[in-house]
Amino acid sequence: MAETTRTVRESQAERSEIIFPNDANALGNLFGGRLMQFIDLVGAVAAYRHARSVTVVTASMDHLDFVAPVHVGDLLILRASVNRAFRTSMEVGVKAMVEDPKTGAWRHVSSAYLTYVAVDGHGTPVPVMPIVPETEHEKRRFEDAERRRQMRSTEVTRRRELRKALTQDWYL
Ligand SMILES: CC(C)(COP(=O)(O)OP(=O)(O)OC[C@H]1O[C@@H](n2cnc3c(N)ncnc32)[C@H](O)[C@@H]1OP(=O)(O)O)[C@@H](O)C(=O)NCCC(=O)NCCS
Repeated sequence: MAETTRTVRESQAERSEIIFPNDANALGNLFGGRLMQFIDLVGAVAAYRHARSVTVVTASMDHLDFVAPVHVGDLLILRASVNRAFRTSMEVGVKAMVEDPKTGAWRHVSSAYLTYVAVDGHGTPVPVMPIVPETEHEKRRFEDAERRRQMRSTEVTRRRELRKALTQDWYL
């Protein structure tokens, strides 16, 4: 029988990176933009696994906090999971941590929520399967994702109206 739902576990993704000097500023700290790229890529893997569509595109990345710096030589671990699937979009949570190679202890450095949309070969949004949260953490994240979606929707509407009000030559 064809699948009708997916679990959170089925689409979870992890990525590990050793930080090299070309990814860092003069103080030897990882560039924020590079960390955002890592976050987007691991988040996309989780969304791809859930959607199993032609592709997924990043619709938005919510507020991103850089909690602590990541240094050259650090081992960066990124973990992503789909918190909730809506009609064609999915909220993915990503947590970034630095692993101490000697003790194996992890230090939280950043986290973000991203929304990906499943699209077909023409870039048109296509429906995704509902997700079934199993653990207590997954259930809490599933509920919280709905609240964040409401807040995002108000902001998307505000920006659409702002775009309509702008003329073609607003930047001149
Ligand atoms: C994301 C995109 C496909 C949405 O297309 P659209 O014409 O606005 O489609 P819709 O209005 O039908 O919205 C489709 C879904 O996207 C969600 N969405 C659209 N804009 C969003 C935003 N800024 N933030 C969060 N979700 C958003 C909608 O809520 C809807 O979700 P649902 O189907 O689960 O209810 C389109 O804006 C796009 O292609 N953007 C460019 C993406 C891109 O290039 N990303 C970077 C490179 S991957």
